[in-house]
Amino acid sequence: MNSIKIYTGQRKGVISKHIYGQFSEHLGRCIYEGFWVGEDSPIPNTNGIRNDVVEALKNINIPNLRWPGGCFADEYHWKDGVGPKSKRKYMINTHWGGVVENNHFGTHEFLMLCDMLECEPYICGNVGSGTVQEMSEWIEYITFDGQSPMAKWRRENGREKPWKLKFFGVGNENWGCGGNMRPEYYADEYRRYQTYCRNYGDNKLFKIACGPNSGDYHWIEVMMKEAGNMMDGLSLHYYTVEGDRWEEKGSALEFDEKGWFQLMKHTLLMEEMVTKHSAIMDVYDPQKKVALVVDEWGTWHRVEPGTNPGFLYQQNTLRDALVAGTNLNIFNNHCDRVRMTAIAQVVNVLQAMILTEGGKMLLTPTYHVFDMYKVHQEAELVHSIVNCGDYEFGGEKIPQINVSASVDASEKLHVTICNLNPNKAAHIRLDLADFKPSAVRGRILTSDTMNKHNTFENPNALTPVDFKGCTAAQSGLKLELPKMSIVQLELSK
Ligand code: AHR
Repeated sequence: MNSIKIYTGQRKGVISKHIYGQFSEHLGRCIYEGFWVGEDSPIPNTNGIRNDVVEALKNINIPNLRWPGGCFADEYHWKDGVGPKSKRKYMINTHWGGVVENNHFGTHEFLMLCDMLECEPYICGNVGSGTVQEMSEWIEYITFDGQSPMAKWRRENGREKPWKLKFFGVGNENWGCGGNMRPEYYADEYRRYQTYCRNYGDNKLFKIACGPNSGDYHWIEVMMKEAGNMMDGLSLHYYTVEGDRWEEKGSALEFDEKGWFQLMKHTLLMEEMVTKHSAIMDVYDPQKKVALVVDEWGTWHRVEPGTNPGFLYQQNTLRDALVAGTNLNIFNNHCDRVRMTAIAQVVNVLQAMILTEGGKMLLTPTYHVFDMYKVHQEAELVHSIVNCGDYEFGGEKIPQINVSASVDASEKLHVTICNLNPNKAAHIRLDLADFKPSAVRGRILTSDTMNKHNTFENPNALTPVDFKGCTAAQSGLKLELPKMSIVQLELSK
């Protein structure tokens, strides 16, 4: 019989809440429409930011929000986005649809949004087309409390006190859209730019360098060797696409079992990448001072028919939910090194939590996974061993089940389990060693249909419900996990 063994006595470190981070870029309808509707909008808003989206995101405890990109970050000039809106410069968003950006959402609006969401801002600076001085002055503008040109300008723009800013990215994808650099060159640029990212007063920056694209192990090696002692985090970007090549993206809604299997197989590569990148980091940083920050991940499908190809708007099904649940299990299990991530992206772009259409809003299946998994935030990872069968398709196989488990401050044990097989339930013995639960509660996200999703007409077609497939057994529990399901269990002593 399949089994999962959990050893609550074997604690493996804290699962940082920042693993549950989000990414928001000036791309398509993420910032404009997704968050920003303007003060005059009929859509209920606070100072121009829509209330429904903020409220929904607060419910999943988002810990950080990355901005302004992505590729947009390396062509963004922050000074164009402060001061009276009517005087702000327009620019062309060359990466994303060639649309005109009016800069109405800038530094003040972003930091106000983070205050409303009660999350940490994570700002990504411009290395590709910006200057050292521009980056340095952005930090001075945001965080300096004394008399200086930038602090004075901030006050003139209506903000007396500085903000707190912890997470700062020194460029984005500088191996690609951020300047097409070689790692040797970027490592030197990183060293130079980060020198002028100053800590003012008691504000202490957590500096994040641009890390590799997927399995580029040379990039990470060079960065750790040449600049590892000057950073707090190193990023990794890996997106899950359906095809074997980047160009072979599939449809978000129309896929068969091959499309299902391929997506699961490709998302499980995250385990391999995190393991191998961590092993290289261990060579240069055995004490694990530098965090691996997976600040772009998630599914990348073809855009929805009829939408702007540069806007990356895609629907989101049970299949995406399993991708999210699987990745979050991987990150939790690697919490010693993976201490921060950001799924791409939070609203209306790629694997979003939320989709909007005018004044309407829906929560995607991925949102519900983040809701179910939020119990792991700041809890202690405990050792688990999965001994389950494989899911086979077309002569290939992948593990059917993946798991992570943690114990929170009140000693409640939470277990999150994904069954990737769209045809077969899993009967599992959950062995809890010496943890004797007196109460068990569970929630499940599942459906009989692989592409089940929520629409504006039927926004609650797929939502979590109580999990009933759990019975007592000797030294633990017996679980019956339906095919293609995500389960969250809460066990109290
Ligand atoms: O998330 C969309 C884009 O994907 C980001 O702008 C870029 O960093 C990545 O290539």
